[in-house]
Amino acid sequence: MTTHHRLRVEDVHLGYDEREIVGGLSLEVPPSRITMIVGANACGKSTLLRGIARLLRPTAGAVYLDDRSIHQQSTRSVATVVGILPQAPSAPDGITVGDLVARGRYPHQGWFGRRTAEDEAAVAEAMLATGTVDLADRPVDELSGGQRQRAWIAMALAQRTDILLLDEPTTYLDVSHQVEVLDLLTDLNRRLGTTIVIVLHDLNLACRYADHLVAMKEGKVAAEGRPSEVVTEATVTEVFGMPSRIVADPVSGTPMVVPIGRHHGGAAAPSSGPVPVGAPEQR
Ligand SMILES: Nc1ncnc2c1ncn2[C@@H]1O[C@H](COP(=O)(O)OP(=O)(O)O)[C@@H](O)[C@H]1O
Ligand SMILES: [Mg+2]
Repeated sequence: MTTHHRLRVEDVHLGYDEREIVGGLSLEVPPSRITMIVGANACGKSTLLRGIARLLRPTAGAVYLDDRSIHQQSTRSVATVVGILPQAPSAPDGITVGDLVARGRYPHQGWFGRRTAEDEAAVAEAMLATGTVDLADRPVDELSGGQRQRAWIAMALAQRTDILLLDEPTTYLDVSHQVEVLDLLTDLNRRLGTTIVIVLHDLNLACRYADHLVAMKEGKVAAEGRPSEVVTEATVTEVFGMPSRIVADPVSGTPMVVPIGRHHGGAAAPSSGPVPVGAPEQR
């Protein structure tokens, strides 16, 4: 059995200028598993991911890769093990999809940046898997949101790192492509044992695809574990401030969160105002 790299976050503090966003967060990322990070807007998910990827230096605490702080390792040695797709990546002006994906290979290339057969193979495979082959010669900035997102995912896959971090990789994708991307990442995990950490907006898809679910609130871990342990009506209320019912996803059996809102859910519906004649009965 191949051994996989281990990633551990220990009592990490992260922020911008004086403002602390992540305050003393610890997390053991299960190797060779899919970890999903969920939480309300602005709770610090992207900040945490940037800290893990060495793009942001902790003010205290550390991120350990195989028991050595990532800040005591060279950028290149970390980059060949940990790949990241940031939330809003920006491509150089005019770059083509093919060249963007090839950039995923930079950390692997030697002093002269010569592309090896392995580089070519990794790029070709990543483009095939993401359906971006036909886009190879198109400038990234002329693509639709969904096409562009797939090009970036191809770039992330081309890195062939043992650990892959993706910040909301399904943004701009319609639901069929969201599922396709998550299936693809799952294939990668099953086939190569790649450790995958994904920040995901969609709680129900997160529950479906996660081996390990981390719910964040105000820069801390509010709950973590298997989706069925983490996703309860109480946690959803605490983490998202939203009353809900939890049912079993009819397809996967994993928790499915059904929001209640003010206009539905019986007792939770507002009682004020007359119901117009002919209006459908409230359910
Ligand atoms: N580059 C930055 N400079 C200053 N503040 C930032 C920066 N990036 C994010 N923040 C702030 O940090 C907080 C957490 O942001 P973020 O980690 O992006 O949250 P999430 O990904 O959970 O939505 C927000 O209040 C946001 O405004
Ligand atoms: Mg974010």
